[in-house]
Amino acid sequence: MRKIVITTPDDWHLHVRDHAQMQAVINDTARQFARAIIMPNLVPPVTSCAQALSYRDRILSALQPGSSFNPLMTLYLTDNLSIQEIETAAQSPFIHAAKLYPAGATTNSDAGVSHIDKIIPLLEAMQTHDLPLLVHGEATAADIDIFDREKAFIDSTLSTIRQQFPELRIVFEHITTEDAVEYVLSQNAYVAATITAHHLLINRNDLFKGGINPHHYCLPVAKREHHRLALLAAATQQPGRFFAGTDSAPHPRHAKESACGCAGIYTAHAAVELYAEAFEQVDNFIHFESFMSLAGAAFYRLPVNDGTVTLKKQDWTVADKINFADATLIPFRAGKTISWTLEHN
Ligand code: NCD
Ligand code: ZN
Ligand code: ZN
Repeated sequence: MRKIVITTPDDWHLHVRDHAQMQAVINDTARQFARAIIMPNLVPPVTSCAQALSYRDRILSALQPGSSFNPLMTLYLTDNLSIQEIETAAQSPFIHAAKLYPAGATTNSDAGVSHIDKIIPLLEAMQTHDLPLLVHGEATAADIDIFDREKAFIDSTLSTIRQQFPELRIVFEHITTEDAVEYVLSQNAYVAATITAHHLLINRNDLFKGGINPHHYCLPVAKREHHRLALLAAATQQPGRFFAGTDSAPHPRHAKESACGCAGIYTAHAAVELYAEAFEQVDNFIHFESFMSLAGAAFYRLPVNDGTVTLKKQDWTVADKINFADATLIPFRAGKTISWTLEHN
């Protein structure tokens, strides 16, 4: 049987929500990954170091006994965040980045940044204190086509930030387009990108196959097949600048299957196996360990994890649904087969 052994991986982009919902999902991630960058888009958002640290404590308390999973916390940038908060975050061993959500771009982004001009002093402080900037890279002007929002963000915002702050480390999160891949490759090592498992596996047809499929709706929305292939080429052939960030984003079933279904795909139950399926499509695992376990740690200047995990080429069937506090959650590939199984060494 085919087997792949890699250093224990990390998830560089994860939503776990809070309280009972967080308790329902956190161990799916903790079983597979040693660490994860925890997104701050709670309601209300995580806008202070004190909030980030107490959120971290709640996550640690929800872990199964004996788990050594390490949640890496982030701050949510707003127009009104203080420079002092950035300085405190940069000094904290538990806070690893601050996240830019353009206001209105995605789930729980209402409190996000209204215009980049509003946070120039914060970006300045982040560059000075070497706190990475994570971006949800979509322009929000209502007249921009939803499939063009990532490219518009590069042109309107990201390139400006890069020019003004050339030594600010930036992670372009959950990239979905060939334009984003090319942009990252055109920049120096201060810019990296996360790629989700689902964007490596689905294209925009999967939103509409046999009828509208709300469980394939996330932001940025999946794009055309040629964009998916560009992401797959980046993940499998460009070690160093692209790394795994699942963007696993749990929502209750009723919020997804609704007249106005919300954005987010849950992949934490099978994240590493889903990435393996994607790499298998091009039958090229040479840089799989870099993508899953090495490149992200290097970018964040954190040590590589101890230990290894093993993937076996063996089918298993995903549950139809997962308990999610007082609701249920429909996982990616619900009721279907995944062809790789993760084993713990
Ligand atoms: C994320 C969520 O649900 O929090 N949703 C999504 O579609 N990706 C937010 C985000 O990462 O943009
Ligand atoms: Zn996002
Ligand atoms: Zn996200």
